[in-house]
Amino acid sequence: MASVPFDQLDGYIWFNGDFVKWADAKVHVLTHGLHYASAVFEGERAYGGEIFKLTEHTERLHESARILGFEIPWSVAEIDDACRELLVKQGLEDAYVRPIAWRGSEMMGVSAQKNRINLAIAIWEWPSYFDPEQRLKGIRLDMAEYCRPDPRTAPSRSKAAGLYMICTLSKHAAEAKGYTDALMLDWRGRVAEATGANVFFVKDGALHTPTPDCFLDGITRRTVIALAKRRGIEVIERAIMPEEMEGFEQCFLCGTAAEVTPVSEIGPYRFEVGEIARLLMNDYAEEVRPRQRMAAE
Ligand SMILES: Cc1ncc(COP(=O)(O)O)c(C=O)c1O
Repeated sequence: MASVPFDQLDGYIWFNGDFVKWADAKVHVLTHGLHYASAVFEGERAYGGEIFKLTEHTERLHESARILGFEIPWSVAEIDDACRELLVKQGLEDAYVRPIAWRGSEMMGVSAQKNRINLAIAIWEWPSYFDPEQRLKGIRLDMAEYCRPDPRTAPSRSKAAGLYMICTLSKHAAEAKGYTDALMLDWRGRVAEATGANVFFVKDGALHTPTPDCFLDGITRRTVIALAKRRGIEVIERAIMPEEMEGFEQCFLCGTAAEVTPVSEIGPYRFEVGEIARLLMNDYAEEVRPRQRMAAE
């Protein structure tokens, strides 16, 4: 893929209510969001011209901001409309959608009571998060050194920029060792999630996934649970200790960017790319394509 930097792509960015040329959507270096990570964002995908679960994502964006102590000055409906309008303006059908809200430059200490709340939305073409060939074989994960933090030490339920600092560190460490991603445990030593996706395991025909009590309860995660139940597959949400991975047969990650991606290896543990992982990968691919689904019915 051509390596055009993201600040040099074509088209428009929705920026505080206006569509501005992509290259002109800039912020000043003295921005609170940059210095203190007072920013929240979403990651969404459009399929066939429709943004999958758009309103759920926008509601989570509002909720993430509320948890960080600020209110986004555009309603959920207004943000939904802006996303849809921008998708058309960008001339894209299958794309990634990135809204981000952040505190501005009016105050530059830790306190930011008077700072303007900004909102921008960017949409670009973004195919598979993981290499498609690798995906079918199952990706390899290392065990991360960093843990998902105790909810008393970080606003875990918010999709806040600051929480991704340890994800980038963990992903870089895994990549340096030849892995695709890393599995993070939580502060209690339980299995939590990957650096940008939730995790599921298969054992004796049932799905096991960690209870999301200190990490993101992904919209894809909830979709996969519904799809599995529709297939009559039992879904067990519970605390999972890392040693239990020894007895799991299959594993997959899921997230808006990752979609459903089988995993072949996590540290010392091995998994087969099996029937249930493949079934849910295909069910998810169908679920996100509303027009095709409607045409098939
Ligand atoms: C850390 C993390 N966990 C889980 C997810 C999955 O969330 P969703 O399915 O809502 O995209 C994401 C992706 O946004 C993520 O970044």
